[in-house]
Amino acid sequence: MSTRGAWSSRAGFILAGAGSAIGLGNIWRFPYMTGDNGGAVFALVFLIFCFLIGYPVMIAELTLGRHTQKNPVGMFNSLSGGRPLWKLVGGLCVLSGFIIFSWYSVIAGWVVGYVYKTAVGTFETQLSNEAIDRIFSSFVSNGPVVMLLHAVMIFMAAFVVSGGVKGGIEKFSKWLMPVLFALLILLAIRSVTLDGAMEGLRFYLYPDFSKVSGVMVLKAMGQALFSLSLGMGTMITYGSYLSKKENIATSAAWITSFDVLVSILAGFVILPAVAAMHQSYAQGPDLIFKVLPSIFGSMPGGYFFGLGFFTLVIIAALTSTVSILEVPVAYFVDERGWSRKQAVAFVASLAWLIGTPAALSHGATEFLTRLPAIGISFFDFISTAFGDISLSIGAFFIAVFIAWIWGVSKASNEIESEGNSFVIRGIWSFLIKFVAPIIILAVFLYTIWTTFLAS
Ligand code: PFF
Repeated sequence: MSTRGAWSSRAGFILAGAGSAIGLGNIWRFPYMTGDNGGAVFALVFLIFCFLIGYPVMIAELTLGRHTQKNPVGMFNSLSGGRPLWKLVGGLCVLSGFIIFSWYSVIAGWVVGYVYKTAVGTFETQLSNEAIDRIFSSFVSNGPVVMLLHAVMIFMAAFVVSGGVKGGIEKFSKWLMPVLFALLILLAIRSVTLDGAMEGLRFYLYPDFSKVSGVMVLKAMGQALFSLSLGMGTMITYGSYLSKKENIATSAAWITSFDVLVSILAGFVILPAVAAMHQSYAQGPDLIFKVLPSIFGSMPGGYFFGLGFFTLVIIAALTSTVSILEVPVAYFVDERGWSRKQAVAFVASLAWLIGTPAALSHGATEFLTRLPAIGISFFDFISTAFGDISLSIGAFFIAVFIAWIWGVSKASNEIESEGNSFVIRGIWSFLIKFVAPIIILAVFLYTIWTTFLAS
């Protein structure tokens, strides 16, 4: 009998996949990236990329994982016959997993801090923007506290992942996502009915095409992949626990749709409120932490909504962190023969260390808050390098690999195994062979051109 573990049912898999996809990427990163990058036009480009690149790449990752029953490194190795380029790409996947895990859990740690603040009544009344700013800044610049909360999140993810697939990950994903969804709808209603929210809705819904730039398009692409957990082998690893009975194309369609819906909803929660509160859209990673307290402060029962919401965001973040952690862990277990517990302990401790500079780059350490030469925080640097660029590179190679090295006909056979239908076979083949890789390449060239050459 295989010791790899498996998902217990189809719904279990879709929920776990959606649990991986839906997380801070939707609730925290999407609204602030939209705010930073021109509003509606960013959201529009993001949406297009989710379906043109994200969906086909998700099918690709799940198929490669299920066929080989391996982590990304093992998968590339076995299907390419050990060619060095593909070893490198597998290595990049594991590295991205490590680094993203390390900074993602910093933000999840902030949310833990905000649960505490909400619980003790900090946001019970409507505070001024200045007061909310002050609370946030003194919190995130408190080195020992953010490092401790970072450790708490890493510990929780490590605990779930060391429990194995069925017992751990699935249980967490099953029940709480629908509740989070309902809460988001309520909060969106509150937000769009605030005085002055219209201006924010306009910002979110009417694209201003003069805001299009190379960096903006690159970030929209990175965000699409980040949000759908693609480009670093998470879905390869999750696919390796998937049974042949499941219809990959349908499962991927559900996961993609749920995920996109949650991001769009989160935009409706945050951006109208930004306008109503006369704040700036472009506040980077701080945005939701400065807007949500105002929303809770301005609604009846805000204390309970706030508490419930931040708690659910932690759970959503946890189901994503476990999927990120799963990539390096599966690598050490499958390729290096470590025990699961050993691998988790090693990856988690190292990630805590690697994540520490990201945790300290919001005011705790001047140097990390504004890196010399590039002028952005260490956190923003790592987020662009590993959240956007490395995932795009990963997705490019995954698409090229399945389409041109392994071949779409073998992939389609895997997808159609046990009589599963694959009605979009032709469309998928076209998207994965041409559209996805060419767009990714074009976006890189366009970014390099507009950023460095055309000035
Ligand atoms: N998709 C997750 C989110 O939106 O929060 C983050 C993530 C998970 C990114 C897994 C990458 C990944 F491989």
